[in-house]
Amino acid sequence: MPLSKRTTLTQFLIEERRRFPDARGDFNALILDVALACKAIARAVAFGELGGVLGNQAGETGDSVNVQGETQKKLDVLSNDLFIRANEWGGHLAGMASEEMDLPRQIPAKHPRGKYLLVFDPLDGSSNIDVNVSVGSIFSILRAPQEVVASGRDVAEADFLQPGAQQVAAGYALYGPTTMLVLTVGNGVNGFTLDPNLGEFMLTHPQLQIPADTQEFAINASNSRFWEAPIRRYVDECLAGKTGPRGKDFNMRWIASMVAEAHRILMRGGVFMYPRDSKEPAKNGRLRLLYEANPVGFIMEQAGGRASTGRQPMLAVHPTALHQRIGLVFGSKNEVERIERYHAEPTRVESDSPLFAERGLFRV
Ligand code: F6P
Ligand code: MN
Repeated sequence: MPLSKRTTLTQFLIEERRRFPDARGDFNALILDVALACKAIARAVAFGELGGVLGNQAGETGDSVNVQGETQKKLDVLSNDLFIRANEWGGHLAGMASEEMDLPRQIPAKHPRGKYLLVFDPLDGSSNIDVNVSVGSIFSILRAPQEVVASGRDVAEADFLQPGAQQVAAGYALYGPTTMLVLTVGNGVNGFTLDPNLGEFMLTHPQLQIPADTQEFAINASNSRFWEAPIRRYVDECLAGKTGPRGKDFNMRWIASMVAEAHRILMRGGVFMYPRDSKEPAKNGRLRLLYEANPVGFIMEQAGGRASTGRQPMLAVHPTALHQRIGLVFGSKNEVERIERYHAEPTRVESDSPLFAERGLFRV
């Protein structure tokens, strides 16, 4: 398709903004700054070994470890810096928070402060960096509390603890065979592909919709012994295939890059689960609420899918900590609702005995 027929991200944002005559353009400028950070990260990722960016980040005593206790890759740190540099100067932000930073990041005094908060996972799936498998960046934009904007004071952790339903925008960039930016501003979900010649994101996937039904699920099955009964039931039923209670065969995928799994689900449906389990009871799940579950949840819901903890809609959760972890289930609506139903039903007696099986005598 010739360029003249394509919509650039900039044009898309300007046309969206015309729906709000009072908007000042801050928001669009912020999204373009985020997009710039993603383009810079895409380049760094693309150079791989040639760029000297693979491997672990050196710390003072061995490998550097982030606040989550995870070993930091060089590209985690570089991506975090690129996000900060692209976004701190524009005057649109009151503050930032990131997976890679223990505390909220203040806008330096030499720059103006604005009304939004930017929360991000600069490089999701970073265990995949060294093996040349897709990784991505995830971001969420919130409004800073009125009083923060009025006073211009430093941001604190509590300012970020807003339910996902309050997100103004969310998105991710996927650094795969092509680089894509997927964005919602609360009016559906649109996908843009990076034109490497022009360095511009082009609208290629307008108004994405997730099929309500699917025969594909994603879960790290090595954790199965730690799963709770409703998840075990759901997966067992999928595995039973045509002759089981679902009456159809399922396929399974696990990339270990949540952002890539979210993208696959957005493209062709599916369900992703990283549920709460008993592996590390203190952690209440693996993925993080503010910069993984909420932005992906917003995108899923805006594309007609669903995101849940299993027990309640993800976007209704009131966060209690910046780096809070949570059980996450998202994707095709009917499957997520089924998993929620399994959580709501009384726990079934579990046994290998046929008397306890799906159609067995003692099924509860
Ligand atoms: O950021 C966390 C993450 O890398 C996700 O992208 C991914 O879904 C998950 O961890 C993979 O976890 P595991 O190593 O348990 O498969
Ligand atoms: Mn991540």
